[in-house]
Amino acid sequence: MSKLHVSTTVNGDTVEYLCDPRETLLDCLRDKLNLTGAKEGCGTGDCGACSVTVDGRLVCSCLMLGVEAEGRQIETVEGIADGDVLHPLQKKMIEYAALQCGICTPGILVAAKSLLEKNPNPTEEETRYWLAGNLCRCTGYDKIIRAVMDTAAEMREAS
Ligand code: FES
Ligand code: FES
Repeated sequence: MSKLHVSTTVNGDTVEYLCDPRETLLDCLRDKLNLTGAKEGCGTGDCGACSVTVDGRLVCSCLMLGVEAEGRQIETVEGIADGDVLHPLQKKMIEYAALQCGICTPGILVAAKSLLEKNPNPTEEETRYWLAGNLCRCTGYDKIIRAVMDTAAEMREAS
């Protein structure tokens, strides 16, 4: 099958790749752009490990085709830190030990950042509801939720 040329923006950088029309955005990010932060947990839209934002909207990159990224703005977990400076969410996830194997963590970070951009003062219920699509088989969810809530409080104080 002939490959299609895609030109898109990932974490602020213009990038191009050739892909099979059937390839997912997740596979294109990982295999063509070497952005391996997004993980394939299920491949069916159920676990959230592959979460990225597309034009500011949270999506499962396993459910989107690579060709659909044409002309879009993609943000991945690799774009969350500012160079060597971790985002407050990343620091809090470490501080709260809110990860074990880390497979779910990139998706949770992308989803939580998206939440705080839309709602800087979420209730615990809102935070749990927002992250309900991100499954973690290791930690239980309390540490993750506390890390996100504490990040929100810290970022509100800093703003
Ligand atoms: S790998 Fe995409 S939702 Fe699980
Ligand atoms: S830390 Fe292993 S799946 Fe969440």
